[in-house]
Amino acid sequence: MKGKIVLITGADSGIGKETARNLAKMGASLVLVCRDRGKGESAKEEIARASNRTSTELLLADLLSQNEVKRVVAEFKAVHARLDVLVNNAGASFMDYAETEDGIERTMAINYFTPFLLTNLLVDTLKNSVPSRVVNVSSTEHHDAHFDINNINKDSRMGTLGSEAYRRSKLAVILFTYELARRLQETGVTTNCLHPGAVRTNIWSHSGALTPLFRFMSLFMQSPEKGAQTSVYLASSPEVERVSGKYFDKKVPKRSSETSYDEALAKRLWELSERMTGLVTANPAARGS
Ligand SMILES: NC(=O)c1ccc[n+]([C@@H]2O[C@H](COP(=O)([O-])OP(=O)(O)OC[C@H]3O[C@@H](n4cnc5c(N)ncnc54)[C@H](OP(=O)(O)O)[C@@H]3O)[C@@H](O)[C@H]2O)c1
Repeated sequence: MKGKIVLITGADSGIGKETARNLAKMGASLVLVCRDRGKGESAKEEIARASNRTSTELLLADLLSQNEVKRVVAEFKAVHARLDVLVNNAGASFMDYAETEDGIERTMAINYFTPFLLTNLLVDTLKNSVPSRVVNVSSTEHHDAHFDINNINKDSRMGTLGSEAYRRSKLAVILFTYELARRLQETGVTTNCLHPGAVRTNIWSHSGALTPLFRFMSLFMQSPEKGAQTSVYLASSPEVERVSGKYFDKKVPKRSSETSYDEALAKRLWELSERMTGLVTANPAARGS
């Protein structure tokens, strides 16, 4: 990974921080995108200490805001002409329904629309840096998603365990990954997604009334270091340099849900997402309700 530039979102905590630390140890130059300056600076110092590298950079953005995503891309491009690996890792699961300033339910926004927008805004840079890679963090929870393309902002109130919106968002990530792989065929940019396993991280601390239960359950989950292994593998291993459009679990390609292979659905989702992120002119009548 020496000389490679890796941009990773949500790099100040959990799986993202461990992914960044491991890639820095391999010699990559890291660009950490974090929301909180204090947490970002301390992650940057930790990563630099662990890897003996001073080339780690920090960019700040609240990725729930599409304007912030656009700003952070502009800041990155002002300094870097190339990008070897983009790791879309930042994620959250909100238990209450609220919309972002862009009018999108928050779990869908951070887990799906942000990676969609960020990747599209960086795809020219990735194409200029081939062979390059996109790594999207999904979840096995996508298997239980009920996906309604006509109602993408549907209420995210609690399902039986965790939120419906979380499952939908992680299915959307896989539909996006497969569609992106089709669109980037023969370009030298690969794109894969993964389930990191059940990992003891801060994501379990925002589960409303169920937080104490999830915190207790997380004691039996794997460490963030283990949880980062598949992200690190997809970002760096020569074994997957030419592999694209796959879903991985424990560094092995696995079959994702039947719905995730629906190409017509993926195309519709892509077109809707282009409008909802302003990549193409929005037609208000076509927005998710
Ligand atoms: N842990 C698991 O068992 C598990 C299982 C399946 C999938 N995943 C996925 O793994 C990924 C990493 O999560 P994690 O488990 O490592 O949880 P985590 O420790 O909570 O890390 C999530 C990261 O995303 C960042 N983030 C959240 N909202 C953001 C926003 N609006 N703007 C900028 N950054 C934001 C967080 O920043 P702050 O520190 O500022 O909050 C944090 O750095 C997520 O995509 C998650 O869905 C996790």
